[in-house]
Amino acid sequence: MRWTFLTGSPAEAKTEGLAVAVFDDLDFHGLPASKALKAEAERLRFKGAAGEAFFAFNLAGTPSKHLLVVGLGKRDGFRPSCLRAVAALAVRRFRERFLSSAALAFPLGEDTPAVHWSAAEALVEGVLLANERFTRYKTDGSNRFEGLTAVQFFVPKKSGGLEEGGKLGQVLAEATLFARVLVTEPANVLTPERMAEEARKVAKEGGLAVKVLGPKECEKLGMGAYLAVAQGSAHEARFIHMSYRPKGAKFHLGLVGKGLTFDSGGLSLKPADGMGAMKSDMSGSAAVLGAMKAIAVLKPKVAVDAVMAMAENMPGGGAYRPGDVLRAMNGKTIEILNTDAEGRLTLADALTYIQKQKVDAVLDLATLTGACVVALGPDFSGAMGNDQPLLDEVLAAAKESGDEIWQLPLPPAYAKFIKSDVADVANSSRVRWGGALTAGLFLQNFVEEGTPWVHLDIAGPALRDDDGADAYKGEGSGVGVRTLVRFVLGKQG
Ligand code: BES
Ligand code: MN
Ligand code: ZN
Repeated sequence: MRWTFLTGSPAEAKTEGLAVAVFDDLDFHGLPASKALKAEAERLRFKGAAGEAFFAFNLAGTPSKHLLVVGLGKRDGFRPSCLRAVAALAVRRFRERFLSSAALAFPLGEDTPAVHWSAAEALVEGVLLANERFTRYKTDGSNRFEGLTAVQFFVPKKSGGLEEGGKLGQVLAEATLFARVLVTEPANVLTPERMAEEARKVAKEGGLAVKVLGPKECEKLGMGAYLAVAQGSAHEARFIHMSYRPKGAKFHLGLVGKGLTFDSGGLSLKPADGMGAMKSDMSGSAAVLGAMKAIAVLKPKVAVDAVMAMAENMPGGGAYRPGDVLRAMNGKTIEILNTDAEGRLTLADALTYIQKQKVDAVLDLATLTGACVVALGPDFSGAMGNDQPLLDEVLAAAKESGDEIWQLPLPPAYAKFIKSDVADVANSSRVRWGGALTAGLFLQNFVEEGTPWVHLDIAGPALRDDDGADAYKGEGSGVGVRTLVRFVLGKQG
């Protein structure tokens, strides 16, 4: 899709669709037929709230095209990142009408270049993310409509910030879309080996280093926790390590993504209802790989190593069992109480491995617990960690990216819930409550003293069960990609 920023009257736009955005004061000032639009808005009880929209029909004086009015909410407290959802909503409505070109008019007036920059980024991300649907397996013709091919953003005033912000938005949207597709691809297609191929492709295109370890090499490294999870599947484990090491970097980040291409629960089998959603249990690794793709393009002066311990959790004849005791790469022993608490086992060895790369901080992303979804619902990820300044930086990066993240505690007193009678630690809690926190506490066993670390439990937003600003119902959201890249860009000093 081509996008451009234009000044002038949106009424002159030669596009099929025109969307005009208004705050809840319904000030249509400067738009064609502003009086008629206002009257129509009032007739329809349109309040201009965020998420609200209507098509205006046959209004005298409005351009003869599909005219959509979208709400921006309150003027006070409005942030440029709110535009992502507004632009996405407009594109969704135009797609429903099979339009191929649209103009979007926004009241971005006397704002600073920095505001223009963020606004442009959000707008471009919003339209690109909403314009793409996962139709590759449709043979009924619904895969033929390609969505909008051109979008014009009408703004009252142009600035360099618009172009620059738009370009960043394009890179971040493409990386998010890449992650979305990986998550949405079913587990019969997206196997650990296929993920390794995707990583090799990203590395080759972006000039990154990549190494893929098989089960034998992982065994040599002592990854007993990770390998146990993979051993019940016909698909072998693939441990992916990518690195981006630019000259002159003053900060070295370690990224870890949970990579279960499918999580049946193993012998502690999950109920049939909704098990298919567990194809998304590699969303953490998809976010990490998507972020590496963007980092390779943006070339920040920050070193980044990324690991993805790919596996499939299946109840095959070789599967690990409840009661098994595993030895992790850092030497700690783990008693298995539930084979469905597998993500933390793969992350344990991935965390040990990444810390051997001498990183300054570690971020991990994982669809780790249903408990986190119960706590925060489908839109929020939970953040836990051992370093408040690092947590604050991640939360700040998320705020501008459109990813919603809420901090949860790591209470030392809850460590008793994952005590084992026979090993150093148990892989699942003896009580039902606080499951996101006990998972976080389990991971902390594999984070060395002095390594600043943040764990993001993305189980809620990883797979959309409703149309959202970032993806359509039933698709992966690409959550985390933009937060990670923004965090890295902020570390350039
Ligand atoms: N992959 C799941 C967590 C999950 C649940 C992700 C729902 C996305 C949506 C994870 O491996 C899991 O099964 N966790 C268990 C842990 C329990 C056995 C301690 C859970 O949350 O029930
Ligand atoms: Mn599980
Ligand atoms: Zn899982």
